[in-house]
Amino acid sequence: MKPLCPRTDFPPLDGGVPHVPDLVYLDSAATSLTPRPVIDAVRSYYETSSANIHRGKHMLSDLASEAYEECRFAVADFLRVRHSEVVLTRNTTHGLNILANGLPLTPEDRVLVAADNHHSALLPWQRRCVTERIGTGDDPQASYAAYRAALTAGPPPRAVVLSHCSNVTGIYLDVAPWVAAAREVGALVILDAAQTAPHRELDPVGLGVDAVVFSAHKMLGPTGIGVLWAGTELLESLTPTEIGGGTVDWVDDDGFRWRAVPHRLEAGTPDVAAAYGFTAALQYLRRTGMRRIREHDHEVAGLMVDEARKRDLSFLGDRNSSAERAATLSLFWPGMSGARMDVLARALSDSYGVMCRSGYLCSQPLVTRHAEGPVLRLSGYVYTGADDVTRAFAALDELAAAGMAS
Ligand code: ALA
Repeated sequence: MKPLCPRTDFPPLDGGVPHVPDLVYLDSAATSLTPRPVIDAVRSYYETSSANIHRGKHMLSDLASEAYEECRFAVADFLRVRHSEVVLTRNTTHGLNILANGLPLTPEDRVLVAADNHHSALLPWQRRCVTERIGTGDDPQASYAAYRAALTAGPPPRAVVLSHCSNVTGIYLDVAPWVAAAREVGALVILDAAQTAPHRELDPVGLGVDAVVFSAHKMLGPTGIGVLWAGTELLESLTPTEIGGGTVDWVDDDGFRWRAVPHRLEAGTPDVAAAYGFTAALQYLRRTGMRRIREHDHEVAGLMVDEARKRDLSFLGDRNSSAERAATLSLFWPGMSGARMDVLARALSDSYGVMCRSGYLCSQPLVTRHAEGPVLRLSGYVYTGADDVTRAFAALDELAAAGMAS
């Protein structure tokens, strides 16, 4: 299995990191590498405009404003939604906070959150209302039955917050039946697609969800920009949690008039350079093809699982499941402390040039429940080939022989 995209497109894989000429990058679920066209696009903002958006009438400001709105159109095209329903956020966490803090919720309201949710898809809701955990994991039928029971176990929940794909297990959720059940009790469905938008086609309208959030930095784009999509009615029902420049049409001594959505939800000067880069990232993904990316993920995941099984290593997510998996695998060694896991991850990095994430992956309740300690996550993407996976496992073999991975 070869990388899907040329490694030369990605500077850190092309000699860009001093002293690590043959780097293995397996931390894509946290942040993907950035291809050269995206880096060039970010640079072009500073070289050809560098101005603020939607504020000045001079030529440089108009150029930047047009490019910023072009990014919104590119996202709308990617999701097949209306551009006026795309809010450009800072990242997935920001989008989830806009929703949780903007919806008219009371402390007594119930919100169901999936047990495999990232902290960002749990804490904003936990702070505002009564949250209840619902399993979505290893036994899909039992999880779904428990979810249906939870939907009617009290006052109807106001919202159900789901992860489209777990950042820990890499297992996808078949969203459709979960949405249908939520509809029966009138609950909104919020979908955290941070781990799916980079890896497969995403169709929020087809899925029937009410809102979707994700980040550019996991899909070849720059840091500092993300997406919240929701229908116009839902966006208009949100109380903006930030107010200031860009959110209002008129201000006088007595008050102000909100701008229309999505602008009223985008306070202050945004990361304009990141919007230039995000448009380029979406073009790069389109050229590569989301269907091919999904197939490539499947191969990477299959190889990771085979290598782990060959060594009888423990990993999260049902070992025998044939469920579709992103190119993500979280290994653990029962009883390994956080300090030893940190040493292992650092040895992989410094002695073998293998970059992966360790710890609780911002999903501590899930990781603690299933691994009883920290995990080591390998996560690939379009630049990952079989060599990357086999080199990571060969490094783990050597570290195990030295007593560091056991
Ligand atoms: N959500 C990111 C991760 O899983 C940061 O690593």
